[in-house]
Amino acid sequence: MSNDLSQLKVGFIGAGNMSYGIVKGILKSGGINSAHVTVSAPSANNFPRFQEMGVHVVHSNNEAVSGSQLVFLAVKPHLIRTVVTEVLPHLTERHTVVSVAAGVTLETLEQLLPPGVGVVRLMPNLPCVFQEGALLFARGSSAKEETGALLKHLLSACGSVEEGPESWIDIHTGLSGSGVAFVYLFAEAMAEGAVKMGMPSALAQRIAAQTILGAGRVLRDSGKPPAVLRGEVCTPGGTTIYGLHALEKGGVRSATMSAVETATERARELGRK
Ligand SMILES: NC(=O)c1ccc[n+]([C@@H]2O[C@H](COP(=O)([O-])OP(=O)(O)OC[C@H]3O[C@@H](n4cnc5c(N)ncnc54)[C@H](OP(=O)(O)O)[C@@H]3O)[C@@H](O)[C@H]2O)c1
Repeated sequence: MSNDLSQLKVGFIGAGNMSYGIVKGILKSGGINSAHVTVSAPSANNFPRFQEMGVHVVHSNNEAVSGSQLVFLAVKPHLIRTVVTEVLPHLTERHTVVSVAAGVTLETLEQLLPPGVGVVRLMPNLPCVFQEGALLFARGSSAKEETGALLKHLLSACGSVEEGPESWIDIHTGLSGSGVAFVYLFAEAMAEGAVKMGMPSALAQRIAAQTILGAGRVLRDSGKPPAVLRGEVCTPGGTTIYGLHALEKGGVRSATMSAVETATERARELGRK
């Protein structure tokens, strides 16, 4: 694969939300020419937002693959086999294929693809669309270390990008893919608490969102463990320790651990099907 980003051509099969978030991030990370990015999908429904970024849009998956060195598979998991079979004649050892399809393992992808094609499994989450995603990828046996470094650079504007063994992908799905919904539930409950105490609902939701965003930024950017930050907010005998006690009595810690555990197990189960 070309190390000269200005020459690198990138294809996307699928023009949905994930492709949109990743294309936006790749172009923002710098070095890639938007005219060197091709996105394919059966309908033109999602094309305008890609065209606005100067990206080439086509209906032919083969066209998205044949001119590209890096190919993202961003269709629903049940379509992976169909689209790979369709583009197979155009895939060579010079290609690296990155799949974002939930539950589709490296083993399955490597069986479907010709030997020597570099394969990467990438798990983004929804905030990727707002460049605040949490992404984890695992490389297959033919994908080189340099490919990992290139992906880390290209995806850096999508959010945080980590690399790990494939066994972490399902855990990442439980923690971060599903985790987004766990945080929404918490936001909803916080806002409802404020409504109960007399605040208008829309205002309570805005403040809950900003509280979660602010807490997340402090947690990420300070590098301090959550328990330390929590301690810093607790004045002895103050409001926060009273509230935290109520959360502990309600079993929030245990319920949250179980939520990540059960979502991970479900991801593993779906991957086996
Ligand atoms: N959304 C998430 O939060 C999330 C998180 C992690 C992983 N993922 C994974 O990301 C993948 C894509 O999800 P998404 O949310 O982006 O889906 P999506 O918004 O539903 O988009 C799917 C895209 O696939 C296109 N498509 C359908 N059949 C096709 C075919 N035969 N050839 C080429 N393109 C075809 C659709 O075309 P049209 O535009 O014509 O309908 C659409 O553009 C899934 O495998 C999912 O598991 C999603």
